[in-house]
Amino acid sequence: MKINYVRLEKQSKYQSRNLLKIFKNCLDKSIFVNGEEVGKFEKKVAQKCGVKYAVALNSGTDALTLALKLLGIKKGDEVITPPNSFISSTSSIIHLGAKPVFVDVADDQNIDPNYIEKKITKKTKAIMPVHLTGRICEMNKIMKISREYKIPVIEDAAQSIGSKYYNNAAGSIGDIGCFSTHPLKNLNACGDGGFLTTNKKNFYLLAKSLQNNGMFGRNEVKHFGYLSRMDVLQASILNYRLSKLDELIKKRRANFKLYKEFLNREDIFFPEEKEYQFNTYHTFVIQVDKRKELIKYLKKRGIQTAIHYPIPIHKQTAYIKKYGYEKYKNTEKQSKRILTLPINQYLTIKEINFISKTINNFYK
Ligand SMILES: Cc1ncc(COP(=O)(O)O)c(C=O)c1O
Repeated sequence: MKINYVRLEKQSKYQSRNLLKIFKNCLDKSIFVNGEEVGKFEKKVAQKCGVKYAVALNSGTDALTLALKLLGIKKGDEVITPPNSFISSTSSIIHLGAKPVFVDVADDQNIDPNYIEKKITKKTKAIMPVHLTGRICEMNKIMKISREYKIPVIEDAAQSIGSKYYNNAAGSIGDIGCFSTHPLKNLNACGDGGFLTTNKKNFYLLAKSLQNNGMFGRNEVKHFGYLSRMDVLQASILNYRLSKLDELIKKRRANFKLYKEFLNREDIFFPEEKEYQFNTYHTFVIQVDKRKELIKYLKKRGIQTAIHYPIPIHKQTAYIKKYGYEKYKNTEKQSKRILTLPINQYLTIKEINFISKTINNFYK
């Protein structure tokens, strides 16, 4: 059996008729930027995320940059965030001249809200929790701190479209939500893409302008902006795929249930889904001993795995060169134990059974 970690080529194949129609439609209209499909996507995705407004962008990274910009983050400010994320959660802060202040993670790989208050200083201008793997952080605690200290919250929800926490959707809980539609995300474009969400009209209007070179309309510029637009082709693809998202999430949740049934929990750890969570399994990450040997064992039997992320941000050369080294115990411990198993929507029960049995056998 050969089981790849992702199967994008299957998605492309199953959807090729519709995708080709979308490409043709774009060519026929020949409006490639700022077309009506972009506005349509913004409306639909805002609805999906339970917010008033969404702004379509060219990446999750730019969503983070613009979100920080909307909050006025600048040189000398501090932003609280976890060290175990994709690099752009931190680089977006650094590029604006601000300092990332790390808070270690809990067993579920998400920021541990119990340590946030200790890291708040006069310079703290935002808290940026990351909803890793499709699981929303403990937002009740985070929002309580936010209200108490009057510090706004940016949700890095790049991996969590459709996830819920006490029935609130990712991206609707903090002041601004940031999403990626990178090809490997659950809602994926055929290239880079992303969007931000908010209930605040002033943020929406400013973001709409900032992503389009700061323009209001065609000629007037009140703030110097960026070029962060989502193009019409990607928006058209996302409008189509948004209609399939619930089905995809259902399948990934079913896959998780199968793993839960088949995997021997004595040897491996993965966080439970709590009754108030609705996780969407962008990734399925287990925590294990003897990871290197297990990867090799699985590879030999045709099973491909991944690690998100093997080097935590605070241990990246770029970070250490700038700020030096500071230990984050749980993040470091997890970075040596985490292993991402295939969970894509094209897996069969037989394949999940085979992956699970192979892992169980390894530890026998
Ligand atoms: C947690 C997290 N934040 C931010 C990003 C950045 O998104 P993008 O790759 O679309 O720029 C990603 C994407 O990998 C992510 O997983």
